[in-house]
Amino acid sequence: MLFMCHQMAMKKEAQDKQKAEQRRKAQSVSDIPIIWILGGPGCGKGTQCAKIVEKYGFTHLSSGDLLRDEVASGSDKGRELQELMVSGALVPNAEVLSLLNAAITRAKGASKGFLIDGYPREKNQGIEFEAQIAPADLAIYFDCSEETMLKRILARAAAATVKRADDNEATIRSRLQTFKRNTSDILALYEEKTLTINAERDVEDIFMEVVEAIDCVLQKKERESKIC
Ligand code: AP5
Ligand code: MG
Repeated sequence: MLFMCHQMAMKKEAQDKQKAEQRRKAQSVSDIPIIWILGGPGCGKGTQCAKIVEKYGFTHLSSGDLLRDEVASGSDKGRELQELMVSGALVPNAEVLSLLNAAITRAKGASKGFLIDGYPREKNQGIEFEAQIAPADLAIYFDCSEETMLKRILARAAAATVKRADDNEATIRSRLQTFKRNTSDILALYEEKTLTINAERDVEDIFMEVVEAIDCVLQKKERESKIC
């Protein structure tokens, strides 16, 4: 009797797993919110994403973190990426998009929404993302002066036990240049779906505006799902 119960429990567990996998495959990425988080180095993208994850349970995918994971793996590709990152340049989009695509595929089905932090960084990245993955519902751009961004990163580096390889003044200045070169094109192309938030304020004040925008997206998604 005990043996039969155990077998039935095992069978149910296997069926549940199979159903969860089917749900994961069936869910389209477009069913859930996709939000791009834009802004220069040190503007507070990661800080606000952590708060969004806490409130909404979204999946946070930082292009910088994905690249740093690849570097940490010690692969040859990682070494090439590290060189570019330490120079303050962008890495080729094929690398970033393939890391993002893989992470989205892994999380799909169990995710309530995707926060794509630090992407797109030039307009073709946005075009390729939307063509290969799904359209973004919203882009949040954290507007911050270079002086503030520099100060914030230097303070983060001073407080860190493990400092990021690109958090030194020379690389920060180069990252700021790369950011300045590409951002106006992105903002022009995605003007209609971009919300610009003044990021020179207190973390909580900024977050209040973020929440308003995300609530709007969630309401829109809810309405769309009822129509379908
Ligand atoms: P990435 O890792 O994305 O770095 P970044 O864009 O330079 O931005 P940071 O992560 O340094 O800053 P953040 O905006 O997240 O600010 P944070 O919240 O930490 O990219 C690194 C590199 O990877 C790139 O240079 C590039 O080479 C490559 N890369 C990445 N994406 C790519 C892509 N799409 N294509 C090609 N290459 C790519 O805050 C900073 C500090 O400020 C913290 O200490 C925080 O506590 C503090 N702070 C935050 N908000 C506030 C506030 N409101 N008031 C006071 N302090 C605050
Ligand atoms: Mg970050």
